[in-house]
Amino acid sequence: MKERKGIILAGGSGTRLYPITMGLSKQLLPIYDKPMIYYPLSVLMLAGIREIAIITTPQDRDQFRRLLDDGSQWGLSFTYIVQPEPEGLAQAYLLTETFLEGAPSAMVLGDNIFFGHGLPEILAAADAQRQGGMVFGYRVADPERYGVVDFAPDGTVRQIIEKPEVAPSPYAVTGLYFLDGSAPERAAKVEKSARGELEITSLLDMYLTDGLLSVQQMGRGYAWLDTGTHGSLLDAGNFVRTLSERQGQQIGSPDEIAFDRGWIDAEALRARAALFGKNQYGDYLMRLLG
Ligand code: TTP
Repeated sequence: MKERKGIILAGGSGTRLYPITMGLSKQLLPIYDKPMIYYPLSVLMLAGIREIAIITTPQDRDQFRRLLDDGSQWGLSFTYIVQPEPEGLAQAYLLTETFLEGAPSAMVLGDNIFFGHGLPEILAAADAQRQGGMVFGYRVADPERYGVVDFAPDGTVRQIIEKPEVAPSPYAVTGLYFLDGSAPERAAKVEKSARGELEITSLLDMYLTDGLLSVQQMGRGYAWLDTGTHGSLLDAGNFVRTLSERQGQQIGSPDEIAFDRGWIDAEALRARAALFGKNQYGDYLMRLLG
């Protein structure tokens, strides 16, 4: 069976963060002590995924490459793919068809942060499901901003509605999608919505219609943050700072995960730590070496 591959969708225009994102990709902005994209990258790594496509705008690709290189510093392999125009999340599957070669995938939005005890376990469970799709429902106070899960009275999922005026439930679909190898073929059948995008909800609907979509609840013990507005960007930074300083443990460190999993050895981790000189992140990596 083919190994699941990863996709980080890090294009988009970031208009809600203007003027900051007029000169810089949103996913390169700092979330406290690390670039935003480190966090979704860590999620894919926690799911055990090592082959990852990074989708960027044409103008931002070289900056991502400068930051992330070819992935070998973490025992990973990165493929950079350009999205000429931000035409929707489902377009990612058209752009990655050749990269995926029929393999199942996990796609994460480059501006989404996940945190919680047991995250590696639910990611492993999602990876283990090889047919169909799995997405995560998360209770939020403002579901209208997201794709929202509409549950039937017996608890089964009836549909997922993109940015409804009146939300049928408080459960938003998070920006993490585990789909089987048929995703590119299905995405090719998605038609543009009224706002001119290839909607991920239309793609998920196809899985749902075929009885192939499961929605897993991510309970209140988890944090799911998106960082698309000035306030949420600052909140996410404060969240990461508060938790990581209190616990003395990093959130979203690809270096730590790679070392934990045995994808890089002590020498490689030491080389990474040396890069960060005397800052806290470098100290932290040195401490991991014992
Ligand atoms: P959004 O936050 O919906 O869009 P955006 O990042 O362009 O921001 P704004 O609404 O402020 O203009 O996108 C969610 C994530 O998906 C984000 O990480 C960017 C990414 N994205 C793409 O890479 N390509 C796309 O076509 C779209 C729509 C989003």
